[in-house]
Formats: sequence, C-alpha cells, structure tokens
Amino acid sequence: MVVPKIIKKGSFEHKDLVSMEQLSERDILLILDTARTFKEISLRRVKKVPALQGKTVINLFFEPSTRTRTSFEIAAKRLSADIINITSSASAVVKGETLMDTAQTLMAMKPDFMIMRHSFSGSARFLSRIVPASVLNAGDGINEHPTQALLDMYTMRESNKRFEGLKVAIVGDIAHSRVARSNIIGLNKMGAKVMLVGPKTLIPYNVEKMNVTVTHNLKEAVGWADVVMMLRIQLERLTEGLFPSIREYSMLYGLNREVLRYLKRDAIIMHPGPINRNIEISPDVVNDERCVILNQVENGVAVRMAVLFLLGGKQKVSLE
Ligand code: CP
Repeated sequence: MVVPKIIKKGSFEHKDLVSMEQLSERDILLILDTARTFKEISLRRVKKVPALQGKTVINLFFEPSTRTRTSFEIAAKRLSADIINITSSASAVVKGETLMDTAQTLMAMKPDFMIMRHSFSGSARFLSRIVPASVLNAGDGINEHPTQALLDMYTMRESNKRFEGLKVAIVGDIAHSRVARSNIIGLNKMGAKVMLVGPKTLIPYNVEKMNVTVTHNLKEAVGWADVVMMLRIQLERLTEGLFPSIREYSMLYGLNREVLRYLKRDAIIMHPGPINRNIEISPDVVNDERCVILNQVENGVAVRMAVLFLLGGKQKVSLE
C-alpha cells in the first residue's frame, strides 16, 4: 500500500484542540504539513490507513452542521477509527440532561476523542477539563471554530499564498463569527495582515485588541486584499436592529459582480459555508474561478485527519 511518508507527531504536545490561542506558529505549520500528507489518501481508490485503528470517536453536535460533522466523520473513518454520531435532538439532552452528565455518561463508554459543537461559548474548554478523552472544538457559540481556521489557512497556502504579509479581508458578521475569531488569531500568529469589513454594529466591541484594521468600505477592502473571506449573516444569532434590512446589508456588503471588478487577478474568495446566496455572496461570485469554497470543503477532511492523528495517534505510523 502506498502511503505518505512517516509523520512525526512527537512534537505536538496537546491533549485537546479547543482554540487557535493554544497553538504556536510551529503547531500550525505541523498541522498544515501533516494535512498535506493526508490529503493524498482521499485521492486513492482505497481511502483508508490504519493510523487510528482501535480508537473510538464521538461526534457530539448540539447545533446543526453539514460540513464540519461530515468531514470529521469521514476523517475518522479514513484513519480507521470507529465513530459514533450524536445530535442533541436524538439524545437525552432533550429530556433535560446537562452537558456535564452527558459528558460523564459518554466517557463511561471509554471514547478516545470527543468532537463537540455547542451554542455555549467556552463549552469545548469546559468539556476538555472534565473528560480524559481528547476534545476537539467543532464550534462553540460565537467563540472559536479552530479546525475551520486551519482548513482556511491550508487553502490559502495551497493557493500559493505565503502568510507573512498576506492581506486578508474578512467581510460581514464578524461580531457573531467564531470562524472570524479563529482566523484572526491564527493569521496574526502567522504574520498575515487582517482587515475587518462590515457595518459598525457587526464589528466586535473589543476590536482594538485584535491587531486588525477596520473599514466600512467593501470596495476598498476588496481592492487591497489577497484573500477575501465572506462570512454568513448569522440570522440565528442576530438580535434585532443591527442593520436596517437584509436588502440594505446586501447592497453595501454583498460580494457581487460589480464589486468583483476591484478584486486582484490572483486573489482568492473564501466562505466557510453555508452561504446565503444573494445576501453576502452572489451566484456570479460563487462561479468565479478565484472562488475556492469547495476547495475549503475538500481540505476540511485532510485537516481534520491531521488534527485527529496528531492528537491521538500515539503510535508512529509509517504510512507505507
Ligand atoms: N463551516 C461550517 O462550520 O459549516 P457547517 O455548519 O456546515 O459545519
């Protein structure tokens, strides 16, 4: 079986991945390099290696997800782990069980990993402190979504972007975006320049502590950027009155064919998904050759394989 060269994991000394804050520049590069090696596995006829054979993964999603839940499941299966999916609607949570009791109940079945998405900011860190399993944060409230930032950074690098001095414009509902927070932290660590773009009401209150610049002018940001990252308007987290109407928001901050004229020829357009077509992004833009949204999805599997492997693959794996 042809498998990527040996991956050294000895230098990744974390039990959990709950935040981009916990990662050093070296950790981030190790994850991205490991993901590059694992990406090749997804192109094979038999898309499986024995790296996590005998390990058990619980995918615990208290909020909806298509990309993150599925790609963690595929990643675990490609590494030969056993994975169980639990959603809040099909769990005892609907009968009133607390997160603490749910975690202890699941832990009694001896999983090696718990991947969790939860609406409460800080829930992943809380879980990591009460269970011996490796905890992976698949999105906690408006706090962080570290594997999304890592797959975004992987996609930038794959598009021949060097992080040092890279100009990244993050556009939209930044105040409610865990994707933005994790990207800002990660990109800052790697030496990129981040510009936030949106109405004042959607810029975080503590923005001056984030080492970013801010503009309310989308065309200016699009002309400046090497990477334009559009964010979804999170209608489920918005309180009323943050902007006059969806239509007005779209006119000022939607990426459409007219705004696209300002974009550099070698820039890339990203979006973590799910997209609100004709609100933050128009179909013309999704079809533009600079748009890498599906590359992000593809890279999510490789990055999540890398993270699972680095956290839990105690054995050295010669993948050949
Ligand atoms: N990007 C992202 O987290 O998408 P899902 O909500 O589909 O997982």
